[in-house]
Amino acid sequence: MPSVFIKTYGCQMNERDSEAVAAQLVAKGYTLAPSERVADVVLLNTCSVRDAAEQKAIGKMQNLAADVRKNRPEVILGFMGCMAQSRGQSLIDKLPDVDLVLGTQKFHRAAEYLDELFAGRRDKIVDVTEEEASEAKIREHVLNGGGAQAVTAFVSIMQGCNQYCTFCIVPYTRGEERSRTIPDIVAECRELVARGVREITLLGQIVTSYGKRGWSSSFSLSENPPPPDTLKRELQRKSPFVQLLEAVHEIDGLERIRFTSPHPKGYGDDLVEAYAALPKLVESAHIPVQSGSDRVLKLMHRGYTRERFLGIIQKLRRVQPGMGITTDIIVGFPGETEADFDETLSLAREVGFDNAYIFKYSQRKDTPAAAMPDQVPQEVIEARHARLLLLINEIAGHKYEQHIGGRTQILVEGPSRTNAARFMGRTRSNKIVLFDGSERHRGQLMDVQVTRTGSFTLYGDPAIVNLD
Ligand code: 5AD
Repeated sequence: MPSVFIKTYGCQMNERDSEAVAAQLVAKGYTLAPSERVADVVLLNTCSVRDAAEQKAIGKMQNLAADVRKNRPEVILGFMGCMAQSRGQSLIDKLPDVDLVLGTQKFHRAAEYLDELFAGRRDKIVDVTEEEASEAKIREHVLNGGGAQAVTAFVSIMQGCNQYCTFCIVPYTRGEERSRTIPDIVAECRELVARGVREITLLGQIVTSYGKRGWSSSFSLSENPPPPDTLKRELQRKSPFVQLLEAVHEIDGLERIRFTSPHPKGYGDDLVEAYAALPKLVESAHIPVQSGSDRVLKLMHRGYTRERFLGIIQKLRRVQPGMGITTDIIVGFPGETEADFDETLSLAREVGFDNAYIFKYSQRKDTPAAAMPDQVPQEVIEARHARLLLLINEIAGHKYEQHIGGRTQILVEGPSRTNAARFMGRTRSNKIVLFDGSERHRGQLMDVQVTRTGSFTLYGDPAIVNLD
């Protein structure tokens, strides 16, 4: 059987989609190739959020065509994911070596289309149409890709986005919001835990909108026996997302739950309270703020103010003072003035983020912001990016230093990616901890004492704790 190599660009949702495609192909008898140089099929899972991400994938495909394909003309090359969705057939027009273009609602058809290409029944395949219930098809996992037991896993709970932020291409590449049912998600999580997974991250473009537009199948809460009145009132008060968290929390053997990404607009009190009520829900939140200026937030169509965002942070810290808080920020949105940018700097200081992903604004096709007046010159974007990066590094550096000498619980994931002699675990607040460990630590929850910090890394010593 042929071998496949999948290269992934972009977010965790893309990583998860790639994993599901890999699992699907393995189930059909394909093997996973260790590199693109030896694979019979090379698939690039693409990101469209910024132009730079698209150019990277296009550049990669050009290299594959000029290099791999030249030596082995029978190799199948394909694009899948967000850029495949937004560019469709034009990718083949531009890069004739591409055989397959698979949109974001078609991941589950990868095996079927590769079969057709291998059998020579079709020469090229482009499929970027919508497909009913496609959100429920991203389900299969490869838990031992590297030959070792996976400790953590991603579970996709929904697809799409209806927020239409003016800068963002995602509603056009991922489609309308569609949620999987609670029983379906819980069943997948149970399977993962039975296979040794200890920590699950629930994924969606905006997880706080989970279930708001109903579920794609006929599932509804009223299918269950009608609850007593008090319970019914309780259910109504809680958003579907919090109901999902509670259901996943019930799974025996699961140690930790994370999720990404929420939208500040959907960060209700029920979700804040869940951090107190659900011990497996770790003290970590990635809440994209995008800007600290109300004027810019409005132009972005974000649906909250700086004050509301700060209010959420305050409430979260009241419930969990050690909460690790990270965010996404865009610099150079059209019309962003020095004064607006100063508001972003001051918000970063006020919150004290543990980390922030800073994005240079990039014009995206057909988004309202691309046509807005006062586009910010590239050199201004670069300068603001550099200033904000310095500030975030400084703030985060302080946050990390505060852990020195303290004791913290980690879940050990495996050898460090950068230094195989060390083992890596994560704190509940989502900080990476490196320590001298071995395979016997994999999957264990253990206490370490933090001895020093590196760049967005803590160094820990389990021995000190054990001596106490
Ligand atoms: N330009 C720059 N950054 C963007 N993001 C989304 N769209 C754009 C764009 N057009 C960023 C946002 C989002 C993250 C995943 O990508 O910060 O939260």
